[in-house]
Amino acid sequence: MEKPMASVLLCSLFLSHFLCIIGPVQSQTAPVYACDTVKNPGLKSLPFCNQRLDVKTRVADLVKRLTLPEKITFLVNTAGNVSRLGIPTYEWWSEALHGLSYTGPGVNFTGVVPAATSFPQPLLTAASFNETLFHTIGKVISTEARAMHNYGLAGLTYWSPNMNIFRDPRWGRGQEVPGEDPTLTGKYAAAFVRGLQERDDGNKEKLKVAACCKHYTAYDVDDWKGYQRYNFNSVVTAQDMADTYQPPFEYCIREGKVASVMCSYNQVNGKPVCGDYSILAGVIRGQWNLNGYIVTDCDSFNAMYNYQHLTKTPEETAALGLNAGVDLNCGPFLAKYTQGAIDKGLVKVSEVDRAISNNFATLMRVGFFDGDPRQQLYGKLGPKDVCSPAHQELAREAAREGIVLLKNTAGSLPLSRAAIKSLALIGPNANNPYTMLGNYEGKPCKYTSPIQGLSALVATNYSPGCDNIKCATALLDDAKKIAATADAVVLVMGSDQSIETEARDRVNLTLPGQQSYVVSEVAKVAKGPVILVLMCGAGMDVSFAVKDPKVTSILWAGFPGEAGGGAIADVIFGYHNPSGRLPNTWYPQSFADSVSMIDMRMRPDPKTGYPGRTYRFYTGPTLFKFGYGLSYTKFRHSIVQAQDSVSLALDQGHPCRSTKCESVDAAEQTCASSALDIHLNVKNVGTVSGGHSVLLFSSPPALHNAPRKQLVGFQKVRLSPNEDEVVVFNVDVCKHLSVVDEAGNRKVALGLHVLHIGHLKHSLTVEI
Ligand SMILES: *[C@@H]1O[C@H](CO)[C@@H](O)[C@H](O)[C@H]1NC(C)=O
Ligand SMILES: *[C@@H]1O[C@H](CO)[C@@H](O)[C@H](O)[C@H]1NC(C)=O
Ligand SMILES: *[C@@H]1O[C@H](CO)[C@@H](O)[C@H](O)[C@H]1NC(C)=O
Ligand SMILES: *[C@@H]1O[C@H](CO)[C@@H](O)[C@H](O)[C@H]1NC(C)=O
Repeated sequence: MEKPMASVLLCSLFLSHFLCIIGPVQSQTAPVYACDTVKNPGLKSLPFCNQRLDVKTRVADLVKRLTLPEKITFLVNTAGNVSRLGIPTYEWWSEALHGLSYTGPGVNFTGVVPAATSFPQPLLTAASFNETLFHTIGKVISTEARAMHNYGLAGLTYWSPNMNIFRDPRWGRGQEVPGEDPTLTGKYAAAFVRGLQERDDGNKEKLKVAACCKHYTAYDVDDWKGYQRYNFNSVVTAQDMADTYQPPFEYCIREGKVASVMCSYNQVNGKPVCGDYSILAGVIRGQWNLNGYIVTDCDSFNAMYNYQHLTKTPEETAALGLNAGVDLNCGPFLAKYTQGAIDKGLVKVSEVDRAISNNFATLMRVGFFDGDPRQQLYGKLGPKDVCSPAHQELAREAAREGIVLLKNTAGSLPLSRAAIKSLALIGPNANNPYTMLGNYEGKPCKYTSPIQGLSALVATNYSPGCDNIKCATALLDDAKKIAATADAVVLVMGSDQSIETEARDRVNLTLPGQQSYVVSEVAKVAKGPVILVLMCGAGMDVSFAVKDPKVTSILWAGFPGEAGGGAIADVIFGYHNPSGRLPNTWYPQSFADSVSMIDMRMRPDPKTGYPGRTYRFYTGPTLFKFGYGLSYTKFRHSIVQAQDSVSLALDQGHPCRSTKCESVDAAEQTCASSALDIHLNVKNVGTVSGGHSVLLFSSPPALHNAPRKQLVGFQKVRLSPNEDEVVVFNVDVCKHLSVVDEAGNRKVALGLHVLHIGHLKHSLTVEI
């Protein structure tokens, strides 16, 4: 929300003439809130201000009162104000990817609220495979958002989460998303969105804040070897679209009930997403019933017009977008060109009405038209509710739960505080707290860097080892000296936003510059265990360290947020038993050498040697697989109860009753009675307590080029040594075991499906 402005009449007597200037001045009084009927009782008579009426009625009343020029000002992120109706301006663009962020202009960290809790980047949080955690983080962020909003420092509409599929390890924004799997991505997004949006009073018509699932769709190339997101044409098969790119968005809308979807810059199969009626009005609003608004990326229309050169005039681009179903434009494009588009007959006023109605409905649901937010539910929240000790502890817990133990030679981790009296800490990321935040960051409450976290536990000597993160120059003398005498060595290497970020895809998968050399040289002279901590988003090819017996442990710590260094120390010294599992495949450098990033195909092509992508399809060598992650203890799974076969209910006249079929349509009635429960016993058979995410996969019959394996679901448990627990997975044959055929239709393959939990396998026959 912007600083309130009030219009006053400034008059002065000059040469016996009255000179009057009407101008905006900074208000000295309380901010102006829409429908503040306490301050302005005259507004009570306006139906759009009447909270007893339903949203639809209020919106219809408001739209009816506006002139066309006024309406047009509500099509852009910095929305207009209408003084005569007591409506102040509104800034739609706020961001909260992993905490309130200053990336959007709607959030303003100032004196009263100088900072907010900074959680790990979603890729690391996703590695926790803990849906409760995803939800809790969303809830904490919306509490901080409401607290800041009450002080005029943050908006009510957040363009988070980012939930594209992490298809290629070079993507600079991989750190922002929950990984490469559609099920994990959908579940992360829905849980996070519900955490942001749901109110504690259970009122479903109203929202705590409005979230946004982005970027729709098939968007995951930013800037790679000259291919730019602004004009990239994503060539996607109907099959990949239906079983990889679309499902997370569908899940976010249907299960998460998200209030907004953002369309991306790129084209899909030659059509700009933000100008494609069939997938905006058709799929998002038509099939999936979005209750909310469709917003462009900032500024997709500018990209369509100036980079994709799709239309002769900007008015035609504006019309293309509005007619396709866009409601709000991040950027000024629609403010400039909508009137012209209407004048030329390219778009009807009714489309503008539809768009602003969706926008206003969302603002009604978050309480923007309910007067002073401090008089509403959450009105009591304030500075004390931002960066509270509990929120900061959650940031540390989230980082701990995400960290993945990739290698652990017997006797290496956890370090014993009794035995390890001195530590050599090396690496450019050990002492650069800002790097921990990743992108879309805000001002964190405070930092606990690796050097702070570790030196709180043990006498620590630090040496950077490199000139900077790019490590063009290795600084080995000092690093080797401290490593040779310390009881243990921790190297914190990896990347930062100068290596991988928005608008910056990588070319190589290896560690930057001389980093690998530094690790190997330091490891050679170390006298104790050597722990390599990778602070980075995407996977790195660290096969040299996997093979090197002197590197005794490897941890992936993602971009772990404000408390990252504390979390790393907790894991290294065994105050926390790592339970994170990789949400993405780690590929070797050879992948980057041989596969084009812009090839969107998920499935391998044996004819050309194209290996495909992600654990569901990829046929080449991997460094670490999706779901990989070690623990300080051991868990054993066994099946308690699971049926061996399931029958689908087909109509009497169904053709597959008389002729042999390989698959049938995944229709609700077919699956109505075919749900099954899998009961699994999980036991901690090691010697320390720990969390464990149980990942259930299925392998369908080899039909329709189906994924080799796909995630059905996951559940996390926490067990003491010798303790066990039964977890139950409810499997819906149509939802969880189905595959998509070449034309994009969902099918249930008949025959033998294999369910996997770790090494445990269970066969299930689907029959009719
Ligand atoms: C943010 O706060 C500063 C300091 O109070 C103020 O000058 C600035 O206008 C504010 N910006 C917004 C967008 O509210
Ligand atoms: C918006 O507010 C400014 C400043 O108070 C005022 O001058 C302007 O007339 C308002 N716009 C409308 C459309 O009411
Ligand atoms: C999952 O996250 C929640 C919320 O932070 C936490 O309370 C719970 O202990 C976590 N579950 C496990 C098994 O670690
Ligand atoms: C990628 O690796 C190749 C070969 O090792 C090297 O020549 C090139 O400079 C690297 N590129 C970047 C951007 O690091």
